[in-house]
Amino acid sequence: MSTPSTFADWEALLRGRISASRFEHSLRAARLAAEIARAHDLPEEKAALAGLLHDFAHEMPEAEMAPLARELGCDPDIPAVWHGPIAALILRRDYGLVAGDVLSAIARHTVGAPDMTPLDEVVFVADLVAHDIVPGLHELALRDLRGATLAASAASVGDVLQRRRRIDLVAVRTWNALLDRAML
Ligand SMILES: [Fe+2]
Ligand SMILES: [Fe+2]
Repeated sequence: MSTPSTFADWEALLRGRISASRFEHSLRAARLAAEIARAHDLPEEKAALAGLLHDFAHEMPEAEMAPLARELGCDPDIPAVWHGPIAALILRRDYGLVAGDVLSAIARHTVGAPDMTPLDEVVFVADLVAHDIVPGLHELALRDLRGATLAASAASVGDVLQRRRRIDLVAVRTWNALLDRAML
């Protein structure tokens, strides 16, 4: 399989793998990630690419994902969080995406990580802004990336609790780390 080289190449590849509505969500996340990155002097093109590709594996059949999730050490009981790390694995292994920081942001968009980089945070937040479920998050992200990441983590952990679903322990560790950092 040849490696896509431009944003448009990646876009074309993605279009064939996910539904039209998720593709629209991905384009929106890409635009927002670029905008948030620009506001904080972070690499805009990398943010856009990670935003575009973050849900690359979202529509893979669960049975196909399960062995990869095992290999990656994902919580076997929470399939909803697998698609981030699996997208990063497939994009690297099958499509030659080598930028480690882009892969990291893609892998970590589902549950975050206690040691998220600023680029990880941009994509984590842009995904939630694209879903339009946290009032004021867009403006906050442009002003205060750390504050927005804390708010995004609270919203995503809160949503899991509210829906009485199992919670990923990395999401909890991420919340604790972000909270500790906010208290400093
Ligand atoms: Fe996702
Ligand atoms: Fe998403």
